[in-house]
Amino acid sequence: MKFGVEVDRRLFIASLGGAAAVAAMDHEARAESLEDYMAQQLEEPQGQAQGGAFAPAQPGEKFPTVAELAAQNENRAMRRGVGDVFMGRAGRVTKLDPMPAKPTLQDFFKLRFSTVNHVLQSANRAMQTGMTEEVILACLLHDVSQTLIKVDHGWWGAQLFEPYVPEKVSWAIRYHQALRFYPDHAAGYEYPDLYKRLFGVDYEPPPHIQAAYKFAKNHKWYMEARLVTVNDLYAFDPNVKVSIDPFIDIIGRQFKQPKEGLGNDTSPSAHMWRAMALPDSPL
Ligand SMILES: [Fe+2]
Ligand SMILES: [Fe+2]
Repeated sequence: MKFGVEVDRRLFIASLGGAAAVAAMDHEARAESLEDYMAQQLEEPQGQAQGGAFAPAQPGEKFPTVAELAAQNENRAMRRGVGDVFMGRAGRVTKLDPMPAKPTLQDFFKLRFSTVNHVLQSANRAMQTGMTEEVILACLLHDVSQTLIKVDHGWWGAQLFEPYVPEKVSWAIRYHQALRFYPDHAAGYEYPDLYKRLFGVDYEPPPHIQAAYKFAKNHKWYMEARLVTVNDLYAFDPNVKVSIDPFIDIIGRQFKQPKEGLGNDTSPSAHMWRAMALPDSPL
């Protein structure tokens, strides 16, 4: 099986609980754990993969084809579109810290969201390059719906945030997903090597993505969504850590925090917040 990532033996053993734990595993369990570990390295949304799944292509790197990736699905423990909060590293989930009674957006950043380092880096770039508050907020929120579900995360993310942010922000979150497949040289956006690894080198976006691109391209808010993708490109450095502090004022001005707490209000997306707050609930 070829994932295009290198496995750091030391990190892999540590992820399984150390050398003694590995020694106690039978051969099959070890092989399964390795496969899980490699898959997670590849798909790690925060850019923390040690093997550099988000790095630019190496000279001579061979990207998988769509068919090769599809063939791997027969050996996966879960679908590739599953949300991060529902899967564990190396095949195991951990105990989650409880949420406060009235959770805020910052609480979700601290206690539940995945992709945090990535979205903070992208919002930081938007801020450093003087983009508008709407674009900065869209960057800050653009991928955190992957906590809940990865497939079609732009649409899920837009729906999650629609009741609480300006329309332009949720629009940019929705359409960044489609625009990521289409270069815009003038805006400084090129097709990312990451997508050749994740989707296959011969991947063609499905009709709903093509239609969304055509629609967004001629929309007055095109640049809002496009700038999310531009900042996205530069936001996968595992060695850069950005705090949420520079964005607290923008959140205060632009995000309508419900007084009951996210998930406890009656908004159309309250159940999505609850699903992230309580992902161990069996029904
Ligand atoms: Fe995204
Ligand atoms: Fe992103």
